Amino acid sequence: MATAVLVLAAGRGERLGHALPKAFVPLAGRTLVERSIGALAGAGVFDVIQPVLSVAEFARFENLGLDVPGLVAPVAGGKERQDSMRAGLAALPAEIEFVAVHDAARCLVSGVDLRAVVAAARETGAALLGERVKDTLKRVSDGQVVETPDRAEFWAAQTPQVVRRDWLASAIDGATQTGRMGTDDTQLVEWLGHPVAMVESAHPNPKITRPEDLLLAEAILAEREQGAYE
Ligand code: CTP
Ligand code: MG
Repeated sequence: MATAVLVLAAGRGERLGHALPKAFVPLAGRTLVERSIGALAGAGVFDVIQPVLSVAEFARFENLGLDVPGLVAPVAGGKERQDSMRAGLAALPAEIEFVAVHDAARCLVSGVDLRAVVAAARETGAALLGERVKDTLKRVSDGQVVETPDRAEFWAAQTPQVVRRDWLASAIDGATQTGRMGTDDTQLVEWLGHPVAMVESAHPNPKITRPEDLLLAEAILAEREQGAYE
């Protein structure tokens, strides 16, 4: 089952507030986009690795000189994350049956978790990585607590989110026609009524969003270099 992964890297990284676009910020000497592509290639489950970048960063990407099996030339992203996803999907070759969508900002994703989420999607049609929420959640309206939902039912969504290509394509078409914007990729598939499996990540898979996340990521990398896991 031919599987591609879109590496979404067309965002600016406003919250990180770095001089460089977020995907090109170094983490322990290697950029986030390089680390993400390295992790995806290393998992051995993707036939095509499709980067999605701002056109303004194509040259910067070229200069990284990546030589990775399955890596194809970047395509231009769009204004919103969903626009970038649509652009990546449109660029994939006809034989691709499953599409994984991954945030370049989640550059620490492990091979174990990548293989697990792809296997789950191949079985059920759609799956994503996630983790159980640690904090108690409160529903708040106008500064007042309205409800404390049962935390046991709540998970935080990560990427990759892996979906049958035909499901993802019709979800995107439907969302475009109705002007809907999903905050993530499987949300669009849920709207169509398809089942989506949640796969608990076995290893840390944080998204680099704010400056402190880089510190956390450095600590995770240091632990991994001790041989904690692949
Ligand atoms: N992304 C994208 N195209 C966009 C917006 C986001 O490809 N129009 C990508 C980002 O590059 C990132 C991933 O989607 O890898 C997750 O988005 P986020 O963490 O929000 O990154 P940014 O949008 O770059 O950051 P910010 O929201 O802080 O500006
Ligand atoms: Mg963003």
